[in-house]
Formats: sequence, structure tokens, C-alpha cells
Amino acid sequence: MNRLWHLLRTTIGRKLLVASSGIVLILFVIGHMVGNLTIYFGQAALNSYAHWLQESPVLWLMRLVMLTIVLVHIALGIAVTLENYRARKIPYQAHNAFSKRLFQSRLIISGMVLLLFIVGHVMHLTLGAGVGAVFSLRDNQGYVDVYSRVVSAFQNPWIAWSYICAMLLLALHLKHTVRALFQTMGFYHDNYFSFFEFLSWIVTVLVVAGFITIPLAVQTGWLALPAEAVSTAGFSRLVGS
Ligand code: HEM
Repeated sequence: MNRLWHLLRTTIGRKLLVASSGIVLILFVIGHMVGNLTIYFGQAALNSYAHWLQESPVLWLMRLVMLTIVLVHIALGIAVTLENYRARKIPYQAHNAFSKRLFQSRLIISGMVLLLFIVGHVMHLTLGAGVGAVFSLRDNQGYVDVYSRVVSAFQNPWIAWSYICAMLLLALHLKHTVRALFQTMGFYHDNYFSFFEFLSWIVTVLVVAGFITIPLAVQTGWLALPAEAVSTAGFSRLVGS
């Protein structure tokens, strides 16, 4: 506890906490993206995967840990970005001060919008806000029908495209942070600049492309609702079929 308090009191300590919480969050989004790709193996595959997660005995502990990590990452991330800005000895030229300031706050803005996205996303797909009758569907195995939840949500072009926009914002945030966290953790060196640049592009493109394919696959009709979901009472009206 003492060590944590000491870390919080120093700038480098705060940077290390932002970087290490960032690593956990990146691992979470990679895991979530790979898990979501089971949707391409069909309704049973995604629902079995979601069931396995929902039945985990450590689900609530993991949720609590992740929430704490998100809050630490955001609070210290904002503090570190503002400190960096204040610590700049040479003031920006008046003509480009605005764009530099915008660049500095890019991470804060994209982070805050992503936070809003996560709150909306959890209310939508986990808690069922605005999902309607499909939220209570179960599949043939008796599992919660997460597949129909996702597909019916993305059949609405507004929802699909707002997810795609949020994922592009995630790309902006990831691209900068993957490189920055290597720097903070001390792995960065001028000689390896291109390597870390390449790595941050690869992580960003794979994660974001993996997520984006899902709303796109639904919008193009590649992923469709199973017949029993469409025939659910009141649901055919909901999906507009
Ligand atoms: C196309 C993109 C995405 C899809 C299809 C998707 C799908 C889902 C689904 C179906 C759930 C509910 C699982 C369940 O109740 O069993 C969920 C939960 C969640 N998602 Fe996503 N997701 C996407 C993107 C993201 C992104 C980019 C983030 C984070 C930046 C994220 C963070 C979360 C969180 C924190 C939860 C709550 C987990 C829990 O219940 O504890 N998701 N997602």
C-alpha cells in the first residue's frame, strides 16, 4: 500500500500506473474482440462463449477489478496529460497553439468519448436498454441468446454506424497509447522506432478491424437472425421484417 502511495505521489509513478492499467485494458479489448469473433461460428458458438463468461465464479470480482482499472486509468491519464502540458518550458507559437493544445487533449477527448461509449454499450447489450423482446430470448441450449441481441442491434443502421465511429475513435486512442506505453515502460529506443511504430499499427488495425467487421457483416446481411428469433412475439416488428 505504501509503495502504491509512493507511486501516486511521483510523476513517473503516475505514468507507470497509466501505462500498466493501459496494458490490462488493451489485453481486455483484444480478448473481447477475439471472443466476439466467435459470432462467425454461429449462434451456438457465441452463446456458449457468453454463457461460459456469465457463469464464471469470478465474474463480479473481474468486473470490479476492471472498473477500478478503468477509473485509475482515466483519472491518472488526465492528470499526467495536464502535467505534461504545464511542464512544457518553451511556449507554443501563437499560430499553432490551438492545434497543439488540441493534439494534447486528443487522448483525453477520445478517452472520455470511449468511456461514454462503454457506459452506453454495457447498458445496451449487457443490461438490455432499448433491446426489446429479444433481450429475454434463449437459444436451443437454454443459453441467453447474445447472438440475436447483437445481430438485431446492428440491423439498426444508426446503432451499427455509431459503433463503427466509436471503434474508429478507439483506433485513435490505441494508436497513440500502444507506442506511448512502450516508451513509459522503458522499452522504447530511437533505434527501434520503426519496430514500435509498426507494432502499434498492427495492434490498432487488428483490434479495431476485428470489432468493425461485426456491425458491417450484419449491415451487409452476411450475419442474419435465426428464424426463431425473427418469429418471437413482437420481435418481427422490432427488427422491421
Ligand atoms: C462491435 C463491437 C463490440 C461488440 C459486438 C460487443 C459485444 C458485447 C456483448 C454482446 C456484450 C455483453 C455480453 C454478455 O452480456 O454476455 C458486451 C459487453 C461488454 N463490452 Fe463489448 N462489444 C464490442 C465492443 C466493445 C469495446 C470496443 C469495448 C471497450 C472499449 C467493450 C467493452 C465491453 C464491456 C466493458 C462489457 C461488459 C462486460 C460485462 O458484462 O462485465 N465492448 N460486449
